[in-house]
Amino acid sequence: MKHKADIGIIGGTGVYGVEGMRVTDKVRVKTAWGYPSDEITLAEYHEGDKAITLAFLPRHGKGHFIPPTKIPAHANLAALKMLGCEAVVSFSAVGSLKEEIPPGHFVLPSQVIDRTRHRRDTYFDEGIVVHVSFGDPMDNTLATILAGAIRQLSLPLAENETLICMEGPQFSTRAESKLYKSWGAGIINMSVLPEAKLARELELPYQMICMATDYDSWREHDHAVTADEIMAVVKKNSDNAQKVLKAALPHLAAKKGSLNSLIGSVKFGIITAPE
Ligand code: ADE
Repeated sequence: MKHKADIGIIGGTGVYGVEGMRVTDKVRVKTAWGYPSDEITLAEYHEGDKAITLAFLPRHGKGHFIPPTKIPAHANLAALKMLGCEAVVSFSAVGSLKEEIPPGHFVLPSQVIDRTRHRRDTYFDEGIVVHVSFGDPMDNTLATILAGAIRQLSLPLAENETLICMEGPQFSTRAESKLYKSWGAGIINMSVLPEAKLARELELPYQMICMATDYDSWREHDHAVTADEIMAVVKKNSDNAQKVLKAALPHLAAKKGSLNSLIGSVKFGIITAPE
């Protein structure tokens, strides 16, 4: 592969590019699983002797035309791996399941509950049986760097929350929303899976950074969530997402080359007997 990058950034709703960085290239990467959601923008950051190249990919495509169920997650993660990325940071708008996480707050989840139903969620569905460890789906080092960046900007942050990933595209019923809340989950979206599972199968450390946009539909005296309401909050706060990424860059650059703690992990998950 001619192009190279250090960190993959998957943009979510409202995060469709990297601002204030020098764009060095735009690449369409062909993978064994087809093409990713869009072309990938390579952008450089330099400060003193520190440098880092980001590979930015908008999850839903520019213009937001790919629904959550149809995101080509296999190609997206494979393309970032092929570019040489050692870790992946992803962005997502989320609904809040807790009063203390109002719209506008950032959330770094550490756990995930899978409520998807129509998505292929492994690279290993033929010829070889592999069970990777997924008890801790997010990456601690990335979470610490991102939490530091959010705090440095004095933006509100909730950490160590559990993220429900639902299928969609319809939002949850009130009964579902209350059920997820009763499970102790803090936030809900439609996009962390299979992304996080596939990243793990490619030995790519992964952390999702979420921005609460609404209270979903569990509040008795409140209206149920609507897409308008989400987009209004996203518009108001997307600058903050860019600021967080910018503030995290020097710290990511400082750890370049030592971010990947998962290299070699998948071989321990192979169950199929060797020939
Ligand atoms: N993304 C943003 N808000 C959401 C919600 N309430 N449910 C699912 N996905 C979301």
